Amino acid sequence: MITEIEPGFPASVVEAFRKKTPKCRDEYHRTAEVLPMGSPGGLGSLGVPYDLYIERAEGCHYWDMDGNRYLDMFCGDWLQTLGHGNPKIKAAITAQLEKGTTFGCFPAHLGLELANLMRERIPSVEMMRFACSGTEANLNAFRLARTFTKRGKVAKFHGAYHGSADVTLLGNCFDDPDSPPPGMFPGTERGVVLLPPNDIAACEKIIKREKDDLAAILFEPIMGVMGFTPLTHEFVRFLREITQKHGIVLICDEVVTMPLEVGGAQGYYGITPDLTTFGKAIGGGLPLAAYGGRRDIVGLLDPYQHNGRAPLMIASTMGGMPICLAAGIAAVKQYTPEMHRHLHNLGDRARAGINALAKKHNIPLQAIGVGQFSGLHWTPTKVVDFKTYSTGDQFKVHAFWFAMAVRGVIGGGCGTFLVSAPMTTADIDQFLVAAEQALYDCEFIK
Ligand SMILES: Cc1ncc(COP(=O)(O)O)c(C=O)c1O
Repeated sequence: MITEIEPGFPASVVEAFRKKTPKCRDEYHRTAEVLPMGSPGGLGSLGVPYDLYIERAEGCHYWDMDGNRYLDMFCGDWLQTLGHGNPKIKAAITAQLEKGTTFGCFPAHLGLELANLMRERIPSVEMMRFACSGTEANLNAFRLARTFTKRGKVAKFHGAYHGSADVTLLGNCFDDPDSPPPGMFPGTERGVVLLPPNDIAACEKIIKREKDDLAAILFEPIMGVMGFTPLTHEFVRFLREITQKHGIVLICDEVVTMPLEVGGAQGYYGITPDLTTFGKAIGGGLPLAAYGGRRDIVGLLDPYQHNGRAPLMIASTMGGMPICLAAGIAAVKQYTPEMHRHLHNLGDRARAGINALAKKHNIPLQAIGVGQFSGLHWTPTKVVDFKTYSTGDQFKVHAFWFAMAVRGVIGGGCGTFLVSAPMTTADIDQFLVAAEQALYDCEFIK
């Protein structure tokens, strides 16, 4: 007997959801017999009575199997920057499909083209290697940093998410950040140093204590799963300076933020990390990721720099498949300054609209973030770091997110709402109308 999750959302909203999505409900009951939580992969489930089963997507819209249309502010889990069914990406995939999807370990000539596109945009990337997922990219960046520095530990920030591996999961705010997630390899905690974001004095103390063992610091400039909490410019500059001083490899996780600007988030912050990891939007909707950076570090994979014998070998059967590279090339070419401006304008409008609603109704709701990336928080405290993020009422944000879906707008988990290139100001206005209705539906305003 399959049971539905009871998240405790307002009964009238749950009832409206069930009325609207009977086929999705049936599908959940069928699939949950075989697929945990009825989901083939991805996030698993968004913690709702049952998930929406999406049948197709186009531009900035989804259609579920009941035929309901939704404005997609989830963007396929933060990656469909260009929307769904982008004609140039479709054409590139179709052309490559005719030639072959992958040739195993024989190199795809498309790798150079995408690497050069990325190098032009992000000068810190002198050499790069492709992978399948952001998790894999981060693990490989850690491996490079450990080999380069001959040190064993890595540091990450409290609350930040960098993928589903043991080391990257520690301290992330999906789980209880103060205790290791279940199933972790024993002793993982000993190799990972957790740092408080945006706290220069505390970080300086910890880094000085750990510096002789610390191979790398991994950071995400605008922390997605913390509802797009940005690091301050001052803090990012501090990170660059202290890592340089102590010979620690600074790894910038741009799995999510790469399409923020032509130069990625590192361009926005004006810093040059040693290594950068990519994922999500780099593949234009297909599974592609990458890690790259300084020639002397990534060059550890290169026999030509080491008398014919590379100090480090990293394998990945499906890393950089031609069909994914073709999609990635078509996508990255479309991340133009005009497109970034368009996304920033829409994102600014969405945040300003939510903050205006909060003021109008005198509720402690706040929208933060940068460019196309917005996160909603329910707290009177300004969210700037993990401590202030933790003051937020996650249940209220989750209930609001659910009520929004019932109103026809799908955001991401953790109360995130992204904009994509096909959207117009009319879509943002629809989002804001739905937001006010959802607040009434949840009885957060009267
Ligand atoms: C910042 C960041 N890094 C890494 C990852 C992991 O990427 P993947 O799910 O492709 O392994 C994610 C996933 O959401 C992410 O948000």
